[in-house]
Amino acid sequence: MNVLGLIGSPREHGNTATLVNAILEGAAEKGAETKVYQLSKMDLKPCRGCMSCRSEGKCVIDDDMQELYKELLSADALVIGSPIYMWEVTTHTKTFIDRLIALTCWQPCAKPEFVSPLKGTTKIVLAYTYGSPNPNNFNQYFKYMEGLFSYLGFHVQGSIWASGTVNPDDISHQFEVLENAKEIGKKL
Ligand SMILES: Cc1cc2nc3c(=O)[nH]c(=O)nc-3n(C[C@H](O)[C@H](O)[C@H](O)COP(=O)(O)O)c2cc1C
Repeated sequence: MNVLGLIGSPREHGNTATLVNAILEGAAEKGAETKVYQLSKMDLKPCRGCMSCRSEGKCVIDDDMQELYKELLSADALVIGSPIYMWEVTTHTKTFIDRLIALTCWQPCAKPEFVSPLKGTTKIVLAYTYGSPNPNNFNQYFKYMEGLFSYLGFHVQGSIWASGTVNPDDISHQFEVLENAKEIGKKL
């Protein structure tokens, strides 16, 4: 079992990193191989909309996303964590999500024989942190994101979030959230 963790916060040791790592820790306790990347440290260029992926069958941008495509396709599960910035995921996270277009082929598809490698078998857990103390602030957005990843061909396992996290270590006091995160990881 390979579990790939992606941290979409520019804060290396912030709340999102702690949340993602708690999930990975749970998975590792059950014997999974885990690997984690900090998206902000990678060379990830925005999608150009060139649609070359439709004719080439792959993304033509030569950057670190090529490594992430490989990791993703050999992963059994993906844990993607992002802080909420202005009511949505960070730029780093959104850039990664946009680049997933190269793994999809909805109509009209210039290469009809292309079969998406995402066939609903790769599990995904979505993890978020945000500053507002209201634990229900972004419920609708989190559901919407689950819908998106399900549409993209992932097997959505659920979402977890820590509200009221402002300073980088605020989440360390949220024992229940971290315990739940570990449990989610174990179940992967
Ligand atoms: C640019 C920016 C925008 C933010 N927007 C929101 C927001 O819309 N809603 C919210 O509740 N918190 C918002 N926050 C707070 C972060 O989501 C919160 O502090 C989060 O835990 C940071 O994660 P990190 O510690 O992993 O970096 C924002 C923070 C920044 C820096």
